[in-house]
Amino acid sequence: MSGPVAFCGLELAHPVVNGSGTFDALAAQRTFGDAVLPEFPFAAYVSKTITREPRQGNPPPRLWEAPAGLINSIGLPNRGLDGYLADDLPRLAQLPVPLIVNVMGDSPEHVGELVSAVAARPEAAALELNVSCPNVKSGLIMGADPAEIAALLDRVRPLTPKPLIVKLTPNATDVGAVAAAAEAHGADAVSLVNTLRGMALHPATGAPWLGGGTGGVSGPAIRAVALAQIHEVAARVSIPIVGMGGVQTGVHARDFLRAGATLVAVGTESFRDPRAGARIADELEALVRKERTFPDPAGSNAPDSRAERENPQQTRA
Ligand code: SIN
Repeated sequence: MSGPVAFCGLELAHPVVNGSGTFDALAAQRTFGDAVLPEFPFAAYVSKTITREPRQGNPPPRLWEAPAGLINSIGLPNRGLDGYLADDLPRLAQLPVPLIVNVMGDSPEHVGELVSAVAARPEAAALELNVSCPNVKSGLIMGADPAEIAALLDRVRPLTPKPLIVKLTPNATDVGAVAAAAEAHGADAVSLVNTLRGMALHPATGAPWLGGGTGGVSGPAIRAVALAQIHEVAARVSIPIVGMGGVQTGVHARDFLRAGATLVAVGTESFRDPRAGARIADELEALVRKERTFPDPAGSNAPDSRAERENPQQTRA
């Protein structure tokens, strides 16, 4: 379960990657220099979403701390395709792990332009299609409807043999149907969950707090939802799944793998601890080793310790 893992033709050192937009590898390198490279916390790097044109993102405030989570309304600020290809991509290619480039467009044609341009670059090992951002109108609409996903993949699949990962929204009536449409129309993998649409009100005025009005909820608050959706999607597709949503520990990562994920992505936890990815990979490895050495006669989902049996919510949270 842990250790090296094959994913869409890529050989990864372990199953833990980052969620797009939650770890700025270029900022880390600017701050800490090349020291970050040998200790890079993820087995592959998923870059922040890029769009065709540069975007400023949503007006502030962009963050709200929710109980056990975070609501973000960032709005995909980025330099646009040309800026990314000229400046960011060559620098990200220096990372010691494969690079997965996340793209988003307003229409299948725009996504097609992004896919063609990015996939032509040798630095990109795979692409993730963001059809699930709750902070811009078009992203969510495309990702919630199996017919829209089918049309998108019919447009972009012929453009590249490189792996295409479709990032699904949890804000869909039937996430299993969307995943099945993605697989049927040529996706190599799906990733889920993106954030759940949420809102916070200004305590004094009662007006929406976030500059974008609504935002996306992430963190431990959504872990149980993510687990259920990964489990549901795993029953519908045979392509690999990148599971994410509130993973903070090796136990959480193991749960996502048990539910059917091949990789686990860490997001909000990296804001608290930028080395969380490496820690979670180590914890996962230790758990798997322990389970191999001491197989659990009570069943694979049994609690690991007396403390966990007596208070599973605290030890597993
Ligand atoms: C954002 O920039 O708004 C977050 C990215 C996403 O939710 O896909």
